[in-house]
Amino acid sequence: MDKKALEALLQDMSLEEKVMQLVQIPGSEYEADAEITGVTRGQADDKVKRLAGSTLGVWGSKRLKKIQQQYIKEHPHHIPLMFMLDVIHGHKTVFPCPLGQGATFDPEGVKKGAEVQAREASADGVHATFSPMADLCRDARWGRIMESTGEDKFLNSRMAVAMVEGYQGDDLKSPEHVAACVKHFAAYGAGEGGRDYNNTELSEHTLREHYLRAYCEAIKKNPAMVMTSFNTINGIPATGNTFLMKKILREEFGFKGVLISDWAAVGEMINHGFAEDQKDAALKAMMAGVDIDMTSGCYSGYLEELVKSGEISEKMLDEAVLRVLNMKNDLGLFDDPFRGIDPEVGAAVTEESRKHARKVVAESLVLLENKNKALPLNKSDSEKIAFIGPFANTKRLQSSWAFSGEDENTVTVFEAASEIYESGNIKFAEGCTMMDQDSVTARGICHVDNWQEKNEKLLSEAVEAAKWADTIVLCLGEDSTQSGEATSKASLKLPEVQLRLLSEMSKTGKRIVTLIFTGRPLELADVAKLSDAILVCWLPGTEGGNGVMDVLSGMTSPSGRLPVSFPYTVGQEPLHYDMYSTGRPKPASGPSEYTSRYLDCENGALYPFGYGLSYTNFEYSEASLSKEKMTSDETLTASVKVRNIGDMKGDVIVQLYLRDITGSRVRPVRELAGFERVSLNPGEEKEISFAIKEEMLRFWTAEEKWESEPGKFNVWVCDSSVDGTPLEFCLE
Ligand code: NOJ
Repeated sequence: MDKKALEALLQDMSLEEKVMQLVQIPGSEYEADAEITGVTRGQADDKVKRLAGSTLGVWGSKRLKKIQQQYIKEHPHHIPLMFMLDVIHGHKTVFPCPLGQGATFDPEGVKKGAEVQAREASADGVHATFSPMADLCRDARWGRIMESTGEDKFLNSRMAVAMVEGYQGDDLKSPEHVAACVKHFAAYGAGEGGRDYNNTELSEHTLREHYLRAYCEAIKKNPAMVMTSFNTINGIPATGNTFLMKKILREEFGFKGVLISDWAAVGEMINHGFAEDQKDAALKAMMAGVDIDMTSGCYSGYLEELVKSGEISEKMLDEAVLRVLNMKNDLGLFDDPFRGIDPEVGAAVTEESRKHARKVVAESLVLLENKNKALPLNKSDSEKIAFIGPFANTKRLQSSWAFSGEDENTVTVFEAASEIYESGNIKFAEGCTMMDQDSVTARGICHVDNWQEKNEKLLSEAVEAAKWADTIVLCLGEDSTQSGEATSKASLKLPEVQLRLLSEMSKTGKRIVTLIFTGRPLELADVAKLSDAILVCWLPGTEGGNGVMDVLSGMTSPSGRLPVSFPYTVGQEPLHYDMYSTGRPKPASGPSEYTSRYLDCENGALYPFGYGLSYTNFEYSEASLSKEKMTSDETLTASVKVRNIGDMKGDVIVQLYLRDITGSRVRPVRELAGFERVSLNPGEEKEISFAIKEEMLRFWTAEEKWESEPGKFNVWVCDSSVDGTPLEFCLE
């Protein structure tokens, strides 16, 4: 439909029809078993069901076709219904959780993964996904850190851009693609105390320099939607925040698409103490520029009245409705309301998608420890390996957001091991339950009958298997219901029952390779003491077992790097490498009294951002700069030579960090400004160069402007956020 026809359609619609385009209702209004991803809000009456412009949480080619047919028939202008779904890290083929994808430092691989997800979701009738989540996360207590790509704005930007490009492709009309939604605008990851939905206090410079960056970069790629966040920012809920939505999002970032609220966030402004009632909430959200009200009922209940009374102008309403109609048009829904759906086929996992997911899993694994080269396995043909622990043979390798992934498509670690090793050489023992008795999860309390007895039995079986083995692959971690939405935790320890298993295993004196399955950083200092190797596997998705075994068996060398700091203790949170120096920084060595430090713990992470080991070794030459001074229109090049000095092929992630030594506002001690994944054969050497441009040196100055300031800068080209020797250059 061309622009004129679309405007004509708008003019022809009744006020009620227009309002309803801005209303999104849960899919459970159409299908009883739809995924409910928030607190349910009442029932939509028949009128709302007939006219609501979009729904969420349902998928499946046959049923969506049926719903659409019925809906169009009954809609006065036969405008198609839009189906949205949280395809966060996979639809049928489930990739590692976003935090794991961050660990790949491979935006190309992430983009290709988003293409797979878009293709599968579209074949199941989905038009838009609520992804990427571009929230910066510095607090491991926040369960949704699993849905982010980590603590760094530059890495997050690259990954959010890759996801938008992968989901949307070049043309939204293509039935292989779906609309992307950048969320949660803004600073949802900065909730106080790491508690979900909690309020956020941020200075404008921290907001702009750190928290807004990844959204901003992703928005440059024209995502069809942006979602508001649940939190307040400096006292004003994001969903009613005109400064954020009008000034920053629309005016400064130039966002032209549809702004949707998060689930019930419009109505929640009443609880925040910002709106008096549902009508006031609808008014405030509209005034802030929120186009679609996801499920709160405020727009369906009160928008018509607000327009009739003149509190909201019809012009403002029309602009919002036009944005929604434009999105439907961009998706090609007016030409084909069943775009992408193939009821005969639906979404299916293909060999190609499996292969790619397996590669992404292998790239995402981070080797934290490898004492005496405990890994790879395969010490000899007769090596006996016991796979022990609640994650050793479970299909629970997806996250709480991967609700469309299926067990039958999921490969467990032990299943994958069985494909590689003779059955006489491997054994499985569950070892213990996944959780401590009566653990609280997002879905309620997890109670196991006869928990004590069950665990005694599991433990004795595990001890038997361990005695038989040469190597124990101990598969521990946090259940997928313990990260994701509404899963904040004040402890970052593994469940006690799992720690007991580890301690009993260590008493056998056997080599212990510990795999950690998790959606968040955990406290691993005690685990490190009792393990010969530690491999972080995240929540790896349907190809989890295969990808993990590719690395354990030595077919591929591990190459993932931490996208987030792993602390010594939860007391360090929020923790991130790109902090500001204090006036009394703790010296690297020597006396540290009266400096900025903890008496009982290091300041920095146990395992820092950017860190990860390989089976091979890489040697870095001294880094060099093409010149020592640059003007603002020049480019400077920082280079380093990296050589694989081990005897196995491997990928290394070469990282570029910058520091503005003095500024009108203090600058972080280091900031990631570039990275490259480099593949090297044994003995091979490559030179890696990064261009440094003036625009990379800009920040929110004391003058409240986004610009660089002349002066001295440090550069590191190195292997992690704590590695390397700084070089210096000057911006004139
Ligand atoms: C609430 C979550 O915060 C958001 O990320 C998600 O997209 C919506 N529910 C829809 O499921």
